[in-house]
Amino acid sequence: MRLAEKVAIITGGAGGIGFAAAETFAHEGAMVAIADFDEEVGGGKANELQEKGYDVAFFQVDVSERVSVDEMVQRVLDRFGTIDILVNNAGITRDAMLSKMTAADFQKVIDVNLSGVFHCTQAVLPTLVEKGSGAIINTSSVSGVYGNIGQTNYAASKAGVVGMTKTWAKELGRKGITVNAVAPGFIETGMTATVPDKVIDQMKQQIPLGRLGAPEDIANAYLFLASNEAKYINGITLHVDGGIRM
Ligand code: NAI
Repeated sequence: MRLAEKVAIITGGAGGIGFAAAETFAHEGAMVAIADFDEEVGGGKANELQEKGYDVAFFQVDVSERVSVDEMVQRVLDRFGTIDILVNNAGITRDAMLSKMTAADFQKVIDVNLSGVFHCTQAVLPTLVEKGSGAIINTSSVSGVYGNIGQTNYAASKAGVVGMTKTWAKELGRKGITVNAVAPGFIETGMTATVPDKVIDQMKQQIPLGRLGAPEDIANAYLFLASNEAKYINGITLHVDGGIRM
């Protein structure tokens, strides 16, 4: 049990990667707060894990809205008593070429993928500082590190996540809190489900491991960074992408 007695918030926990992380963390003994915008799917997924005997609960939140985040964190504290781990996993895409991207779609992605990480981390901070321990794991992307056609907004948000990760690793290290990021490559979830088969085949050809990643591949990286095994790892961005970029 690598996360026994730990309380973890996983934002976007109703989605492909987030739900795999919720199950993986619960299996390792954590009490898990699935924090997601989508109440219907998230509530159902939390029930699914409860039926397996895990201590999991759903909390509705819009990570881009500070009031909503503060309320979610308070409800998690009321339910579980503390917070040890925050996985900032919620994310969206609104892809378009630069010439066609609307300012609204640029801003929406920044609000969720970048400001959302800021709001959630700031909201849990007093609890972690008071305990003198904690692990924060942010979700970047191969697109944020290397850029990707059609993803001005998304790449900007995910590059920003790397910058915040390093900054917080420096600010919070002496308070006993580690801050790291995971940069997934192309993972089979709802986010990539609409990508045409032809493009998927082209992607596979570029990946040395010859396949897209599974949500569990990212969940296991989150687990490692949240566990005691990673307690001297701080400020890194762990690339989990089958070697697509190196
Ligand atoms: P997904 O679309 O399956 O799940 C995302 C979840 O975030 C959904 O449950 C959605 O309801 C939730 N969400 C969206 N906006 C929200 C908001 N404002 N507040 C709270 N929750 C919100 O996506 P997936 O693939 O599981 O992605 C998880 C993370 O991994 C994201 O940050 C994504 O950018 C990142 N990622 C995914 C890759 C992929 O290939 N699937 C590649 C690189 C990064």
